Order: sequence, then structure tokens, then C-alpha cells
Amino acid sequence: MSAIHFPDGFLWGAATAAYQIEGAVDEDGRGPSIWDTFSRRPGAVLRGDTGDIACDHYHRWEQDLDLLVDLGVGAYRFSVAWPRVVPDADGAVNTRGLDFYDRLVDGLLARGISPMVTLYHWDLPQALQDLGGWAERTTTDRFVDYALAVHGRLGDRVPHWLTLNEPYCAAFVGHLEGRHAPGLTDEATAVTALHHLLLAHGKAVEALRADGVTGQVGITCNLTSPHPATADEADVAATTRLDLYENRMFLDPLFRGAYPADAPAYYRDVTDFSFVHDGDLATIAAPVDYFGINYYERHLVRADPADLVRGWQRVPDPHPTPGGIGVHPEGLHEVLTRVSKEYTSVPLVVTETGIALHDYVDPNGEIRDDERVAFYEGHVRAAHRALEDGVDLVGFFPWSLMDNYEWAWGYGYRFGMYHVDYATQTRRPKRSAHWFAQLARANALG
Ligand code: FCB
Repeated sequence: MSAIHFPDGFLWGAATAAYQIEGAVDEDGRGPSIWDTFSRRPGAVLRGDTGDIACDHYHRWEQDLDLLVDLGVGAYRFSVAWPRVVPDADGAVNTRGLDFYDRLVDGLLARGISPMVTLYHWDLPQALQDLGGWAERTTTDRFVDYALAVHGRLGDRVPHWLTLNEPYCAAFVGHLEGRHAPGLTDEATAVTALHHLLLAHGKAVEALRADGVTGQVGITCNLTSPHPATADEADVAATTRLDLYENRMFLDPLFRGAYPADAPAYYRDVTDFSFVHDGDLATIAAPVDYFGINYYERHLVRADPADLVRGWQRVPDPHPTPGGIGVHPEGLHEVLTRVSKEYTSVPLVVTETGIALHDYVDPNGEIRDDERVAFYEGHVRAAHRALEDGVDLVGFFPWSLMDNYEWAWGYGYRFGMYHVDYATQTRRPKRSAHWFAQLARANALG
């Protein structure tokens, strides 16, 4: 394969999220989050795993920042735990929670690594869930208060902010599929929650601007690349509906200030969208400085013969990785070019992409995750093709820096470039870490 070079200043990074790595769930005044509650629900998480200890990053953060140095990256995407900063419904700010992120940001800067801060990576304070959570409009104002508290403390040192991670998962996996916290299975609640998540994003963008934010502000969505399984008209129509559900319900309001024209029909038995108030969509479409894209899935879609009005089916991937997801780097190229052609000219960042494997330390002490190396290589080349095709792509952050708590899959699936032995908390570089470090240092692939 031919050598490729990335533009000067291209941002190579690594990504994590608070609940997945921090542990220390009841330290320094942290309140419970919806994931502390959900992970304890019998049957909710594989093997009943919780994030109580996770990677113990709360205590081992300095050593973890050193891993980033070894990895040769210029940036680190992490999330702030809302329940550390505002543990309760009374809105009181917990300074000790902010202290942790203050140290983390300084630790990054001391190592020459640029912080990219996600404000919401799914760990809503349980106290707010008890008041209705994302189904409740006032949660949007609580999010703004929290965002301003974090900005007040870290704003002088953070060049990249992301309001939300993956509103699709927070709304639909959490409130419709019930596989994620808060574990609800009601579609009307899910669509309401989605609207409030997007509104919280828009309000936070406006509030951060009013607060004089100097860093760039964006949001991260997980996007898919759907294709009809056959040329059959019913499959093509089903693909349009799945695309509404997985992509356009986010992209249209964020970048066009409107829900898709086919949304009322799709949701006609579910909701009349009366949760949308005057002015909401203008707020949601508040201009962002950049857009984060998480890419994991390319889908082949079939009509559901039992439901030709709403129904779609994802065709199971013939070569699934653990967790059932296939490997389709070309889908990343499709998503990046689509967003830049159809939706926005702001710079794009791949804020996540990655592969779950059952990595293990072999008898020679090596972790030979060659499948992950091949996965990254394919996706890095796909990202480069998008650049060649004119996409303003400015960064690439694999998921994840290290193995961690993979939500409903607990510790059963490993996504990291560093292997974590949960019994001893030992971190070891996998082959993918060595491979990625070479890429990040060279800013090129040989
Ligand atoms: C994404 C999440 C991230 C991680 C990866 C595998 O949906 O944003 O936290 O779990 O999937």
C-alpha cells in the first residue's frame, strides 16, 4: 500500500470517558450517576460488572498521562463526570470534583498534550434522573449550570470542548432499547430525551460563548453508513428510515435547524413533537466550531415485512467482531464525505473509532492485537481518502487509550491500545499502541 502523509498540525489523540476509567465512585464528594444505579440492576450488564473501580484512573492518572506521552499523541479526549462536579439536585458545585480535572488538565499541558473535554459522556447525576432526567426539560438548564462550572475552572486551558457524546446512544440506547442507563424502553420518552439532549447542547454552546469561551466548541455524534441490502424499493425505503433514526435525527437539527421532514410520519404513533418549543431549533443549531464523529458501524438494511411503514432490519454482519459489529473502513469515508458535502463546512474530527477484541497477554508478555492494527490502518487510510476528497478533517482519536468498562458489556470486551489487567491494574502496550505511536510521531503511514 502506498505511503500517506497527513497535513501539518493534524491532531492525533486517544479517547476515554469518565465512568469507563475513573472508578473512585464515592470519593471526594462524587454523587451517584445513572450508571452506578443501572450497572447494579440484575442482568443489565454482562457478568454484573460495575464502574466502581474500572481502571482506577482517579488514582493512577499521572501514570496514565505518561502512557499518552509514550503513544506520541498531541491530544487527549476525556470526559468530566457531572456527578463529581454537581453531585446533587440542589446544584451545589463540589470543588474537590473540579480539583481532579484541574490537576488532569495541568498534567496534560505539562506533558505537551492538548486537552479535549467532553462534558457529557452518559453519566447523568442520579439525583437528576430521580427528577425525570433527560425526559425533563429543566435538565437542559442544569446542564448549562454544570457546563459553566467546568468552564469557569478549566476554561483558561482547554482548547477543545465537546458538549455531548453520542446523543443517539444517550437517548435511544438508554430510553428505547434499555441497554444503557437509565434502562427505559419507551419510545416517546426516548424522542423527548433526544430533543432535550440536543437542546442542552445548544443552550450550553450559547452559554459558553456568552461566558467568553476561548476554546473551540463542538459536539460528538456517532454516525453510521447505511445501505440497502438489495435494490428492492422496500429495502431502499427502509434504509431511508433507518438513516432517519441513526443519522438525520441528529444532523438535521444540529446543522439545518429542523427535524427531518419525514420525522413526523416516522414517529406519528409515538409523539406529536409538542416538546419542541418556539426557538428550540435555532438554539440547537447554534453554530459550532468543529464537529466530532464517532464511527463504528456500516449497515446493510432490509425492510421488515411485518412493518413496511416504520420497519427496518439491520442485516447481521457476515464477519462480526466480538459484539457483532463488522469492519468497514469505507463507511468512515462515506460518513465524513457525507457530513462535509451535505451538512457543514466546520472542521471534522474523528473523535472515536475502534474495535472490540478479546485481547490477552501471551506467554511472552506480548499482546498481539494484529486485528486492531489492521482495523486502525484501514480507518486511517479511509480518513486520508476523505482528506484527499476535500473533507476538512483535522484530527483522529482511536477508542480507546486503554481497556475499560465497556458499558453493558462490562469488562468482557477490550477496546484499548493499552491492555489493563484489572486484578493488578497493570497497563501494558499492545501491538496497536506501538503501531499508533509510530503513526502519530511520523504523521504519516509508510
Ligand atoms: C461508543 C462510546 C464509547 C465506547 C465505544 C466503544 O459508543 O462513546 O464510550 O464505549 O462506543
